[in-house]
Amino acid sequence: MRRFVVVGRTARSTPEFKLQDLPGTSGRLDVLVRCVRAALLCSHTIRDDTVVYLVMLGGPPRALRIDGALAQYVRPDERNLAVLVQKSLARVTDREGFVELRQGIAVAQGGLDVVLSDLGPATPYVLDEGGLDVRDAALSLADPVFFCGDHLGLDDAARATLAPLAPGPLSVGPVSVHAEDALTLVINELDRRRAKFR
Ligand SMILES: C[S@@+](CC[C@H](N)C(=O)[O-])C[C@H]1O[C@@H](n2cnc3c(N)ncnc32)[C@H](O)[C@@H]1O
Repeated sequence: MRRFVVVGRTARSTPEFKLQDLPGTSGRLDVLVRCVRAALLCSHTIRDDTVVYLVMLGGPPRALRIDGALAQYVRPDERNLAVLVQKSLARVTDREGFVELRQGIAVAQGGLDVVLSDLGPATPYVLDEGGLDVRDAALSLADPVFFCGDHLGLDDAARATLAPLAPGPLSVGPVSVHAEDALTLVINELDRRRAKFR
């Protein structure tokens, strides 16, 4: 299973944003929903070996989990994905950990901490421009988890939390790309390696 965690430093954790102006009203949730598309959807299908976590820190921290093996009706366009996030954020729960809202979609109160406790066994990697080239890295194909920043990058607190867990940052190339493109490049590398070992 592949898992991706995208940390939105300014992304709204409450549903009060306008679908017709997502970048301007949601603290750049548009970045996060594009990451969902990049990680979870490929041509005409959903990746059933992939789980995406979005961490929204623009407000009381909340996290969303979308499991490609279970989720249905996940559409590739930004507006539909934003509706999914908005409806999920409208559901308030005081239970601990992730609460399933519908098949494959779960929400939790809390930020990176709640995601880390949900992961269980995993090989974590932090995506960072200054890291080791992913093409030269010995990646775990079994249970990798990739942590990615938003338009502002990972903050110091997230880096400090992840540093002892991850072996060292991984780079997808010499240029700082958009978060969803960083995911696409990692996924492409994983797809190629898996195809080689088949
Ligand atoms: C737009 S970038 C953030 C840029 C931000 N100005 C910074 O300095 O962190 C968004 C995220 O994509 C990932 N990313 C972008 N380019 C990358 C690269 N070349 N290698 C690895 N990760 C990359 C990182 O996780 C980064 O936090």
